[in-house]
Amino acid sequence: MLQLGDGLTCFSAVFLLVLFGTRSAVWSTALTASLYLFVVLFRFPQVPVSRAKQVLRPGSRLAPGGVSVVAHRGGGHDAPENTIAAIRAASANGATGVELDLEFTADGIPILMHDETVDRTTNGSGPLSILGFSEISQLDAAAKHRLSDRFQGEKVPTLQEAVEECIKHQLTIYFDVKVFPVFQLLLLLYNSSVVCSFEPKVIYRMRQADPEVVTALTHRPWSLSRFGDGSPRYTSAWKHLWMQVLDVLLDWAHHHLLWNLCGVSAFLLQKNYISTDIVQYWAERGVEVVAWTVNTAVEKDYYQQLLNINYITDSLTEDCEPHY
Ligand SMILES: *[C@@H]1O[C@H](CO)[C@@H](O)[C@H](O)[C@H]1NC(C)=O
Ligand SMILES: *[C@@H]1O[C@H](CO)[C@@H](O)[C@H](O)[C@H]1NC(C)=O
Repeated sequence: MLQLGDGLTCFSAVFLLVLFGTRSAVWSTALTASLYLFVVLFRFPQVPVSRAKQVLRPGSRLAPGGVSVVAHRGGGHDAPENTIAAIRAASANGATGVELDLEFTADGIPILMHDETVDRTTNGSGPLSILGFSEISQLDAAAKHRLSDRFQGEKVPTLQEAVEECIKHQLTIYFDVKVFPVFQLLLLLYNSSVVCSFEPKVIYRMRQADPEVVTALTHRPWSLSRFGDGSPRYTSAWKHLWMQVLDVLLDWAHHHLLWNLCGVSAFLLQKNYISTDIVQYWAERGVEVVAWTVNTAVEKDYYQQLLNINYITDSLTEDCEPHY
């Protein structure tokens, strides 16, 4: 069978020929045709819409408007992020699901952690790449939380503990993964989890390993040139300009190429870039838009009642500032 890499090489070759060749109709036809062929040869079909719906709109626990409310990092405002306490709080507060970040300890144990270091959320310090599970399990995962007194002594959970807790509460899980995860637990979770990533290649590999898994691409337009709060990432004007060019290409790729190649069922989009037209565009492609991070009552109303789309929030109980 052909490999994706071969396809990418062929495609890049044609693309370069067109870029540096004459701008004739023949070349643009060749480009369009090769792009089309490339997608057809290497894409993974979406899982059936009915199955994706079972995961994305699970029937029970839905909010008004029939939408899923997903607690971001388990609901980092209401309880310490990515902990069992957060999963319990999300369930008690009526969430449909939880978004959880998967990382690995130095000795390869899958745990819930957003950052690559333990410093921001626990009383420990250092990168996960040098901390073993025995060290991480000593830490207080509530140490830096605004309600640290109430949740004192909360542990960093293993993936397995977190999954068991979610199953107990019938919560859908949105796994945020940065690298391709090798975990079989997912087999149990076919009908109740979505694997999400900013990295198209991670989603592609997930589908390659198991085409039955419901997947989503996460996207924030201008993410290469700007931080989440809108400030530029680079001080050099040229670097900034170049990154903006790449941002335009990336956005184009998401809308025309990557969703189809990966066969995603959902598109997790930063909330400010969502309109009825966008929701419609994706609906026509069998893809559900999920908004993030929706943190005020007014916004929640807008996304669930007007746009009727699922959303991810830091708090089920009160208005708050987004956690980036
Ligand atoms: C972190 O807090 C836990 C629980 O209070 C404690 O047992 C541990 O020694 C602390 N670790 C560090 C590095 O301070
Ligand atoms: C998932 O749901 C389908 C029905 O849509 C069912 O046939 C299948 O057995 C379920 N899989 C698991 C692992 O629960």
